[in-house]
Amino acid sequence: MLTTEQVAAFERDGFVTVPGFASRASCERLQARANEMVDAWEPSEHRSVFTTNEQERQSNREFLDSGATSWCFFEEEAFGPDGELAQPKMLSINKIGHAQHDLDDEFERFAYDPRLAEVADDIGLVDALALQSMYIFKQPRIGGEVSCHQDATFLYTDPVTVTGFWFAIEDATLDNGCLWAAPGAHRSSLRQVFKRNDLDDPASSDGTVFDVLDPEPLPAPPVELDATTSSLVPLEVEAGTLVVLHGLLPHWSGPNRSGTSRHAYSLHCISGQADYPDWNWLQRPADMPLRPLAR
Ligand code: FE2
Repeated sequence: MLTTEQVAAFERDGFVTVPGFASRASCERLQARANEMVDAWEPSEHRSVFTTNEQERQSNREFLDSGATSWCFFEEEAFGPDGELAQPKMLSINKIGHAQHDLDDEFERFAYDPRLAEVADDIGLVDALALQSMYIFKQPRIGGEVSCHQDATFLYTDPVTVTGFWFAIEDATLDNGCLWAAPGAHRSSLRQVFKRNDLDDPASSDGTVFDVLDPEPLPAPPVELDATTSSLVPLEVEAGTLVVLHGLLPHWSGPNRSGTSRHAYSLHCISGQADYPDWNWLQRPADMPLRPLAR
């Protein structure tokens, strides 16, 4: 699937963009399905908000169980001072995660596309297993920032193999909160790992903790989206573009203050030959094993 130049770009930069990987029609089908899932979603009284801010993350039961479900997480800014949604539910969800590729036909079709298995082969991801799905809405005006991170922090294997397959379902621009990534910085250390906290203690089993491995900071995000102020570069891409992201690559996306949503679907895969520790936050039940990408 990938050209020699694209594979070389991935090895050099830690990411590669593949315009036109997904057809407009398949993007539209996935978007329609995601909207149906939100429409059918009845929020529980405990409202899960998704944020990567360490202080504000609500590591609740829904989050920790969502490795095996399709859960809707609210945008952090979705609620007004009265605690009620400040805009329609359809414009309030941050993301759906994290197992819809194994639970929903439309997502399954998209994720288990044999061409994606070829991309995994091309970049040397051996025995690729589909681990985690996120349908990301990056809603107009309230779409939340995703702080600079390495995916291996959240989906760790020994050795590091997690690879992000990120699909623009809508055009991603500077205005609506496109991805930014630090070219070449995948050849640096893993800074921290995100762990379930004290698995043996049922009273604290909904907790998580960050373990710092290397205090070296990740690249700072740009000031007012000015690319000259950061080592991160913006990845403005059209709908249908696939962005392949190395698990150690620092990446970031800003808040969306524009009137346009920025839908994306991301599928994280790992190698079946690497060790997946039981302290990773995402754990699948024994009756729901990870499946290889389709061939
Ligand atoms: Fe990420």
